[in-house]
Amino acid sequence: MTRTQRAYVETYGCQMNISDGELMAGILEARGYAIADRPEDADVILVNTCAIREHAEQRVLGRVAQLKGLKTERPDLVLGVTGCMAQRMGDDLARKAPYVDLVMGPDGYRRLPDVLDRLRDGGEAEAVPPALATVASPGSRKRGPQLTVLDLDTGENYQGLEQRRTSEVAAWVPIQRGCDHRCTFCIVPYVRGPEKNRDPHEILAEVAGIAAGGVSEVTLLGQTVNSYVAGEWSFARLLEAVARVPGIRRVRFTSPHPNDLTPELVEVMAREPAVCEQLHLPAQSGNDRTLKRMVRRYTVDSFLEKVEMARRAIPDLALSTDIIVGFPGETDDEFRDTLDLMRTVRFDDAFTYKYSLRDGTPATRLPEGDFIPDAVAQARLEELIDVARGIQAEINAGEVGRVEEVLVEKGARDPGHVLGRTRRNKVVAFPGDLSWVGSYRTVVLTSTTGATFAGERITAHEAVEVGG
Ligand code: SAH
Ligand code: F3S
Repeated sequence: MTRTQRAYVETYGCQMNISDGELMAGILEARGYAIADRPEDADVILVNTCAIREHAEQRVLGRVAQLKGLKTERPDLVLGVTGCMAQRMGDDLARKAPYVDLVMGPDGYRRLPDVLDRLRDGGEAEAVPPALATVASPGSRKRGPQLTVLDLDTGENYQGLEQRRTSEVAAWVPIQRGCDHRCTFCIVPYVRGPEKNRDPHEILAEVAGIAAGGVSEVTLLGQTVNSYVAGEWSFARLLEAVARVPGIRRVRFTSPHPNDLTPELVEVMAREPAVCEQLHLPAQSGNDRTLKRMVRRYTVDSFLEKVEMARRAIPDLALSTDIIVGFPGETDDEFRDTLDLMRTVRFDDAFTYKYSLRDGTPATRLPEGDFIPDAVAQARLEELIDVARGIQAEINAGEVGRVEEVLVEKGARDPGHVLGRTRRNKVVAFPGDLSWVGSYRTVVLTSTTGATFAGERITAHEAVEVGG
């Protein structure tokens, strides 16, 4: 390398992917790269992609085609596509987008600097390490071949490598990669491989480092985060240990699988002051036949029992969920069961999705007649969103007047206002100063839009009066 190379990472998708983007930046920085804030300033652009729904992929393909424009002025620019869509499309993506220099799946990041060196050196096919597959380059290209790095590695949990964290407020901590479930709609197990859990001591050292750097909120990440197990360490034990790291004031985790929400885990959540009164528990459907065909491995009743157990232990718990409508074969009555589940549980928040067919997943093999016309799925989605929003607005209206501890995240849209989150993960905007970012303020909730709150800061003295 003659001068410092600059890399830009643009991430789409879930928290795990955001964390992977930080990992890539960390790996590149450790090898002498500077991290650029804009694609225009970079020698290497990595678009870190999501494959969970077709819509997510379409958006990213459009963005990659747009970034191609930067190459006309700077032929040496390296454009890479990483993450789940890269893994899913693989060589197909390399062929369809010949201007993409590198296609790399989620288990390849450790080799990222070497692969980039190889590309810069002109990437002779035979010089490429055996684990790398190559695709012939189109004739007009000056650089060597495109490289695709697509092997899923059952051992890769990125032990010993650290993220480049930019937030002064909260940190993502991946504790697990991949997934051992096979929910029939889901592409994740095919693009991220089987479950791989990190060493608990390394996780705890990392959390201690985060706290030492002045960040007091961490979110533990995994596809089924609560199925974490490493020797004698259960997820409950790890959560307890993380919650007790000095300097850590808030701990969250996402996403748990309902089946692994154990009494032991709920007990730790209730007991440890740092564990937030918040749980994201994906239900997917409120109908047993649909749940069975999704291979979620629980029933509506057993899901409700988990909710009840958690609420008994943590009365103030804020609950959110994921729901899919229009899964192949879902009848209108079965969809109504999902609405019933929403009304029974009354989630504080719901992430709602229209089923999206993902090639290679088991649901694609369901009878063709089962597939739901888009207009029907769209109508169900809109009805579900209406119900979910209505419930959310009712719950939040009932919370106006509460006094909450808010961790300030950033400036709000209104000048002179800041935005932050309560322990129960509710967003509050209130008059404040940008110098407060990363610190806590006591706030009374004064009104709600239905989804978010407006508040006023109160002093400790007032807090006692209002709260008591
Ligand atoms: N266990 C993971 C789930 C990842 S996918 C986690 O950590 O959250 C996130 C959500 O996307 C799922 O819970 C599901 O509701 C939705 N989803 C997954 N595959 C989908 C598909 N093919 N179509 C529509 N929604 C999907
Ligand atoms: Fe996907 Fe089900 Fe795993 S939703 S990530 S296969 S638990």
